[in-house]
Amino acid sequence: MRNKDFLLLLEKSSRVIELELKKYIDSSDEIGLSKIMEYSLLAGGKRLRPFLVLETYKMFSKDDKVEKALPYACALEMVHTYSLIHDDLPCMDNDDYRRGKPTSHKLFGEAQALLSGDSLLTYSFEVLASNELVSDRSVRLATIALSKCAGYLGMAGGQMIDISSNGRLNSFEKLKKMYALKTGELIKCAMLLGYYAYCDSPEDEVVKDLNEFALNIGIAFQIKDDILDKVSNSEELGKPIGSDEKNNKVTSLSFLSIQEAQNLVDELTKKAISIIKKYDVSSYGFYPLEELAKYLVERKK
Ligand code: IPE
Ligand code: IPE
Ligand code: MG
Ligand code: MG
Ligand code: MG
Repeated sequence: MRNKDFLLLLEKSSRVIELELKKYIDSSDEIGLSKIMEYSLLAGGKRLRPFLVLETYKMFSKDDKVEKALPYACALEMVHTYSLIHDDLPCMDNDDYRRGKPTSHKLFGEAQALLSGDSLLTYSFEVLASNELVSDRSVRLATIALSKCAGYLGMAGGQMIDISSNGRLNSFEKLKKMYALKTGELIKCAMLLGYYAYCDSPEDEVVKDLNEFALNIGIAFQIKDDILDKVSNSEELGKPIGSDEKNNKVTSLSFLSIQEAQNLVDELTKKAISIIKKYDVSSYGFYPLEELAKYLVERKK
């Protein structure tokens, strides 16, 4: 059981993010696309990436006012949501259930789901660039980070390797590289956006540490996702179990037993925590990023 205060903080952050995301979507447009975007965006994800943006920001700013980081947090959650809409499409993982609800294409049709993903991706850059509480230089850094992390050498690149992996991911090292891209990059982006909301002349050493923390928890996060796909149930998970097996995916469980995979999640998490410890001097009586990393190890969904 995680620190109760941490769980309250996570819940509170999630509420703040939901409220903020709602403000960005005006679903009264005549075209009808914003309703489809809103459906997935507000379907109730765990909001872990925005939490990471806000807590990374707070780790540096040392105060609770997160206004500067909020647009960045929302932009990233939009990109993450788009990645899930596309990930579920019949041409990718072909899944019917996401965030406890039918997937976008099941409800609205494939082309509509595709377009709502496209629109969330492009809208995210408008949201990010409209952040008036930070400097232009911060926006420039954030724009580069988000486009790189989501793009062809980031999340989308990882998804490309994932869907064309048949027979090619023949070593665990290669698989981890793919996980670093498809899952690690958006988590890395969360840390960078939090830091860039605080400061527009980033220190190389700090960026390196944030990258490394994110890489470790990102790979751990995807390995945990593989474990849950095997051992959880769809009610709790909010998405189908057995999706990887259905699609003949090479996952961490193609190389490791469930116990070995869980041990590796623990190990990567410990490594991540050791990297961030020197920055995390929060006044909460606990360290939010450390608690988050531990929470991800134990998560049931
Ligand atoms: C799911 O991410 C996709 C992966 C990278 C494994 P999350 O587990 O964070 O999904 P939501 O946002 O809570 O729905
Ligand atoms: C991560 O992989 C998906 C993205 C990077 C969008 P999965 O395909 O395993 O994610 P889930 O299990 O469908 O959430
Ligand atoms: Mg997938
Ligand atoms: Mg999937
Ligand atoms: Mg999965």
